[in-house]
Amino acid sequence: MMENKKVKEHVKKRYGEIAKTDCSSCSLSCCSSSSCGPPPQYVSWKLGYSPGDIESVPEESVLGLGCGNPVALASLKEGETVLDLGSGGGIDVFLASKKVGPSGRVIGVDMTEEMVERAKATALKHSYTNVEFRLGEIEALPVEDESVDVIISNCVINLAPDKLRVFQEAYRVLKSGGRLMVSDLVTEGALPEEVRKSFDAWAECIAGALEKSDYLEKIATAGFTNIKIISQRPYTIDVSPELRGKITSIQVEARKNP
Ligand SMILES: C[S@@+](CC[C@H](N)C(=O)[O-])C[C@H]1O[C@@H](n2cnc3c(N)ncnc32)[C@H](O)[C@@H]1O
Repeated sequence: MMENKKVKEHVKKRYGEIAKTDCSSCSLSCCSSSSCGPPPQYVSWKLGYSPGDIESVPEESVLGLGCGNPVALASLKEGETVLDLGSGGGIDVFLASKKVGPSGRVIGVDMTEEMVERAKATALKHSYTNVEFRLGEIEALPVEDESVDVIISNCVINLAPDKLRVFQEAYRVLKSGGRLMVSDLVTEGALPEEVRKSFDAWAECIAGALEKSDYLEKIATAGFTNIKIISQRPYTIDVSPELRGKITSIQVEARKNP
């Protein structure tokens, strides 16, 4: 078993480096290696964002780091309070901000200082008034009990060593009747031992991914009901040939006291 503290240090280092990079010409393909490739706008489009989505948010927030588009599926309404677990450069926070409008609020939480600084600077530069970025871990959310209508998250929970704790925290901060809409990577079939033990593979969103049934079970154990996979597809971006077909991107919805 890999030591949780070391996993987190490695993940923070990886995303801290990414946050400090100018991503306009390089795909950092953040759930994978940081090599030059197609622009992040293209990667984001492949992940499920429409060209309109990408054009409507600040360029600095588009890092190509996710594995889906939870905002598109969350049916956000004016005035809602939304929490994004592992907000990175803030792409989903900025998208959600438009949906909830000036009477709503979007809070992004991320444990990597450089990411939070980047997202805060972007919000300030582009005069967003209904968003907030907080430094913190999703296993111990810096958010009050029962204060949020909707929780979104995009390719982050697989990076957390204690996923049950994350879902328990999500449950704690959601209002009764609130909903969870998560995009994440899960596995279908055993991964090679050397992949499971690799810190790099963990930071690339592979080694920490749970088997799909285990992931859904943890959501239920945390207390959620009405758990539904809204969509799923094989995840292939930067996945090595030996792992193809074993990594799936899923979009999961769940409710607290529906
Ligand atoms: C793959 S990126 C996704 C970023 C963003 N959701 C997006 O789609 O662009 C993962 C982000 O989650 C953050 N993260 C990873 N583990 C975390 C944890 N345990 N608590 C808080 N943030 C975490 C990382 O710092 C990084 O910014």
